[in-house]
Order: sequence, then structure tokens, then C-alpha cells
Amino acid sequence: MTSGRVLLTGGAGFIGAHVYLALVDSGFEPVILDNFHNARRDVPDRLTQITGRPTPVIEADIRDEAAMDQAMRGAGFDAVIHFAALKSVPDSQSDPLGYYQVNVGGLINVTRAMQANGVARIVFSSSAAVYGEAEAMPVTEESAVRPQNNYARTKLVGEQFLAALAQAEPQLGLGILRYFNPVGAHPSGLIGEDPSQPAGNLVPVIAQVAMGRRDRLMIFGDDWPTPDGTAIRDYIHIEDLARGHVLSLQALTDGGGSGSHLVNLGTGRGHSVREVIACYQQVSGQPIPNQVVPRRGGDAAVSYADTRLADQKLGFRARYDLAAMCGSNWAFMRAKA
Ligand code: NAD
Ligand code: UD1
Repeated sequence: MTSGRVLLTGGAGFIGAHVYLALVDSGFEPVILDNFHNARRDVPDRLTQITGRPTPVIEADIRDEAAMDQAMRGAGFDAVIHFAALKSVPDSQSDPLGYYQVNVGGLINVTRAMQANGVARIVFSSSAAVYGEAEAMPVTEESAVRPQNNYARTKLVGEQFLAALAQAEPQLGLGILRYFNPVGAHPSGLIGEDPSQPAGNLVPVIAQVAMGRRDRLMIFGDDWPTPDGTAIRDYIHIEDLARGHVLSLQALTDGGGSGSHLVNLGTGRGHSVREVIACYQQVSGQPIPNQVVPRRGGDAAVSYADTRLADQKLGFRARYDLAAMCGSNWAFMRAKA
């Protein structure tokens, strides 16, 4: 599919907005559906500035089954990319009902509307969080799934539900993408990671320290079994991640139902917390004061992806390194200030 109408639920969010731009660049016609729970209101205007064409937006909540049907009725969508979800691990522990309602109930509403309106392809935002503490590195798609929190459990339930649907409806094309740790921003500096809810992920926190909005970064443990004692993750540039979605949609179209896939999206390289701090310091020229505090509950020592299946199934290989991720994040932060 080099053109096609694609509904992006949660399309005004961090990942969705970058995928919107990648799809426009590749000749698709994406439409955003979002309730702006965790997205800035000016995101559609910023996207318009970049693309030079109006950004179609449906303001709706995926918990509203009738609204999902209305969004898809007669709209001629070829596919849905389902980003809309709640993603805070601590909030998922205190509010399991809310998390299951949006992440699982919302997904059911979206797929029900797809079925009713003949939309037969879906790409689903899953997470490396489904693996929990994997036994061996790199993490392959065959690794055991052992989610450690309710957020990760809702993602795994979503995957299993979609797999059951695809089994019952062989014409359904299903792409499940397990993201590792997305970082960075669009080269325009207009779109980046800018949540309206408080964020606790590493690079957004480092960025706030670099901007002088927090006095220091808390390093969650330096007693991990890693070379410098801090935990290791597979950070992937948001531009690479966005391209992975275009390839996923194309695989579903080119291969029909048989193009279905479940793949990791990562770089295959791990970086420690201290490496990320050093890199951000280098690209920003700002000091990042930090302090070691005890480990955060539920964290793993090391997590990085085996990327071979994504290459084999989608022809996906990450292109950008950590310096490009930190550099584009810093450019976005400064442009926004
Ligand atoms: P985000 O919060 O920036 O984007 C999610 C979007 O969904 C937001 O724009 C939000 O307003 C919208 N949304 C939330 N609830 C909604 C509802 N009930 N109805 C309609 N819209 C709703 O998060 P993101 O980082 O862009 O993540 C996108 C997807 O990728 C999510 O499913 C997330 O779980 C998954 N994911 C993210 C990461 C990450 O590190 N960012 C890692 C793995 C997986
Ligand atoms: C976290 C979530 C995961 C989710 C992912 C993307 C947890 C346990 N896991 O992954 O479910 O899919 O975000 O949203 O929350 N760190 C610090 N200080 C900080 C922040 C982070 O030292 O202030 C460390 C963490 O301990 C970790 C690394 O930085 O080792 C990356 O953390 P983070 O960005 O939160 O991502 P994950 O924990 O990998």
C-alpha cells in the first residue's frame, strides 16, 4: 500500500504524531482520533505547519463504542494504527480499572467498529514491558512474556485478544509492534515528547534537568549487574520507530493476512543510564546533576532487542544512534522553551 486511509487512535500523542508525519511522507492519508488526555491541543496545528496541509482530527474517546463506529462509518479506512492507551506504570498499579477500561475495553471498541465497517488491518502499539525481566539477552519475540505491572498486562491482553481475532477472521491483517524505549523528536523541532501528564521516563526527566526545571536526576540504582552498575535499555529514535510503522502497514497490505507479524522494534544496542546522561550532557552542553537512589520497583537490569525478525519480516533496521536521539530531544526542548 503506497496510499491508503489510516485511522490513528491516539494519533496526537508522542509516537502517533511522528507516525502521522511518516505516513504523510510515504503517501498515506492518516486521520487522527484522540481525546487529548495526554496530548497538547496545538499538536494538529504543528503537524499542519510541517506538512503544509490541514490535519484531519476526530476528537473522541475510545471508551465510547458508538463514537468509534461513527468515526469509521463510511470513512473508507484501509487500516487502523492503535496507539491510544494509558502508559504510566505507577498509575496502572493504583488504577487497574481505569487502565483495563482504556487499554483493553477501548481496544475492543475499536476492533468492533473495524469489524462493523469492514476495516481489515490493524497495527497495535505493544511494549517490551510484556517481557518483564527476560532470561537472556537480546530479547527475541520467542522470549517468555512475564509482565510485571498492570500496564504491561493490559498490553499483553491486547496482543492475545488481537491474535484470537486474527485466528477467527483470517482476512484480518495484524501487526503487533513491541517497542523498546523511544526517544527523540522530529527534525523540525515542532513535534517531540511533550506529555500533558507528568512523565517519569529517563530522557524526558534528563531534559527537564538540562532545562533547569528540575534540580537533579535520580538514578534508580547503581548496583545492577552491569559494567557501570546502572540499568541498560535499548533506546530507539522516534523517527526510526515511526518508519517501522510504515513498513508494518506496507507488510500487511503486500502480504494480506499472511503479512501478519509480531516484532520487536529496537536497535539491538543497549545503553546504561550513565551513558545516556553523558550523551545528553555532551549534546546539550548542560550539566546534568544526579544522585543515586534505591532501585525503582519493577525495573529490570538489562533489556535490549533481538532485531532480526523485524528485519526479516519488515526490512526494518534502526538508523539513528543515541547522540541523534538526545540531540533531537534537546533541539525540541529549546525550540519549545
Ligand atoms: P502518549 O500518551 O503520548 O499517546 C497516547 C495518546 O492516546 C495520547 O495522545 C492520549 O491523549 C490518547 N488517549 C489516551 N486515552 C485515550 C482515550 N481514552 N481515547 C482516545 N485517545 C486517548 O503515549 P505514546 O508514548 O505516544 O504511546 C503510544 C502507544 O505506544 C501507547 O499505546 C503506549 O502504551 C505504547 N508504548 C509507548 C512506549 C513509550 O515509551 N512511549 C513504549 C512502549 C509502548
Ligand atoms: C518504562 C516502563 C515500561 C514502559 C516504558 C515506556 C517501568 C518499570 N517500565 O520502561 O513499562 O513500556 O517505560 O513508557 O516503569 N531511570 C532513572 N531515573 C529516572 C527515570 C528512569 O534512573 O528518573 C532509569 C530506569 O530505572 C531505567 C531507565 O532509566 O533503568 C529507563 O527508564 P524509563 O525511561 O522509565 O523506561 P523503562 O523503565 O525501560
